[in-house]
Amino acid sequence: MSGLAGIDAAKQLAAWTAVDEHVLPEHKIIGIGSGSTVPFVVERIVAQGKELNQTRVFLPTGFQSKELIVNAGLTLGDIDQYSDLDVTIDGADEVDKSLNCIKGGGACHLREKVLAEAADTFIIVADYRKNSQTLGTTWKQGVPVEVTPFAYVSLLKNLRKMGSETATLRMGKAKAGPVVTDNGNFVIDAPFRSTRYEKPDEILREIKMLTGVVEVGLFCHMAKAAYFGNEDGSVTIR
Ligand code: 5RP
Repeated sequence: MSGLAGIDAAKQLAAWTAVDEHVLPEHKIIGIGSGSTVPFVVERIVAQGKELNQTRVFLPTGFQSKELIVNAGLTLGDIDQYSDLDVTIDGADEVDKSLNCIKGGGACHLREKVLAEAADTFIIVADYRKNSQTLGTTWKQGVPVEVTPFAYVSLLKNLRKMGSETATLRMGKAKAGPVVTDNGNFVIDAPFRSTRYEKPDEILREIKMLTGVVEVGLFCHMAKAAYFGNEDGSVTIR
C-alpha cells in the first residue's frame, strides 16, 4: 500500500479502506474528525481527484482538522451552514463489540459528536489497538468529560462520588495548566471500574446529568461501522 510500517501503516489501511467504501462521489458534505488516523482519511479523499472534491464541502471537528482541510486545498465549511452531512469519518480511542466508542483523547469530542450526530453515516477508523470487546480494556485514562471551567472542582467531586475515584483534570504537556479545548473548556478524565463499562450508555446518561458537563466522550450507538487496520496488513470491519 505504501512505505509506512507498524501502527502508521495500520491507521492508513483503515482510513483508506473506509474512504473507499464510504466516501462516495454523491457525498457532498463530509465531516472530518481529529487525531493521528484522520490525516490518512484526508489523503485518500484528495486522491479521489480535484474535480470531484471541488463539488464538496468539508467540515472540521477542531483546529487540527481545519488545518488538514485547508492545507489539502479542500473547501472548508461549518456546521451552521451545512447541518446535514452525508458522512463523517473519525478516529477513536477504543471501540467495543457493539461499536460504542471512547473518544476525546485529543479533547475534540464535543465537536466530533455534533458532526457524528448530524451525519447520515458515521464511520470510525483506527488501528488494531483500539479494537476491544468492552470499553476500558485498553484505554485506561477513563472517559473524557468536557466541562465548563467554573464547575470543574465540583464536577471532580461529583464524578468521584459517582464511582470514578481517580477522576482528574487533564493537564497540558508541560503540566503548567489545564488542557483548554477549542471551545474554551477543560477536560476531566474519569475512569470507572471495568464492570461499569459493560453498559456505557448508563455511564453516559449519569455524567450528562451533572451540572457543568458540556459533553461526554462516550459515543453510544452512533457508529455505523468501524475499520481497524491490523499488523498483518488486513482490515477488520465491524
Ligand atoms: C480526539 C479523538 C480522536 O479521534 C482519538 O483520540 C483517536 O486518535 P488517534 O487516531 O490519534 O488514535 O477522539 O478527541
